[in-house]
Amino acid sequence: MTMQTSAKKPEERIQSGIILRQLFDESTSTFTYLLADADGREAVLIDPVREQTKQYLDLLDELNLKLDYVLDTHIHADHITASGALRKKTGCRTAVSEAADIHCADLLLNESTTIPFGSHVIRVLETPGHTRTCLSYLSEKMVFTGDSLLVDGCGRADFQDGDAGLLYDSITQKLFTLPDETRVFPAHDYHGRTSTTIGEQKQSNPRLRLKRDDFVRLMAEMSLPLPRHIHEAVPANLACGEPNGA
Ligand SMILES: [Fe+2]
Repeated sequence: MTMQTSAKKPEERIQSGIILRQLFDESTSTFTYLLADADGREAVLIDPVREQTKQYLDLLDELNLKLDYVLDTHIHADHITASGALRKKTGCRTAVSEAADIHCADLLLNESTTIPFGSHVIRVLETPGHTRTCLSYLSEKMVFTGDSLLVDGCGRADFQDGDAGLLYDSITQKLFTLPDETRVFPAHDYHGRTSTTIGEQKQSNPRLRLKRDDFVRLMAEMSLPLPRHIHEAVPANLACGEPNGA
């Protein structure tokens, strides 16, 4: 397995003073995001994959960054989080939705929580529906939507207390109220796309252009196999990626 940075934009400064790197785990098509304050060098990783832990540590070292937080957008079913392993190596704090109700995380998040990194903050948006524990993370004009809103799609809602109606509401009533120019960074893409904007998705996301009832019906009619590693990944993620103890 290798980790790649996006070929188009390996590093970009979206807002002055913020470093953003989009990293990709090929085996699960998972995007991981490194956000950092360019001046103070405080960093946050969103949705890191356990098998890539060494690469993250190398990258932090290379960029001279100090990892303050690891945030998971939800309890993943397709990969195991690197949160526990990174905490052990760096002393960072790990965070996930309070709806996950787990004891291994340092912070349990809800919409009243803000995560500081340097002179910047990440706001927490509760966006349940794909799973009960889904959060999106908003910073400056970027939103990290996990599996809730994908490029021209959305996450499935048929396991982990998923609820298609709730997913529709989270996207249309919460994410779609953000300014159109807000950059959307999803947790997955299977077609080589790396980001989109709220405005683009309001216009062109074929699922979200449906009425709520039609969306719920479409989601119910999808007959998808379970993720290959769900029975290993979910219990491991409920233990911050370290099922045998940190
Ligand atoms: Fe997911």
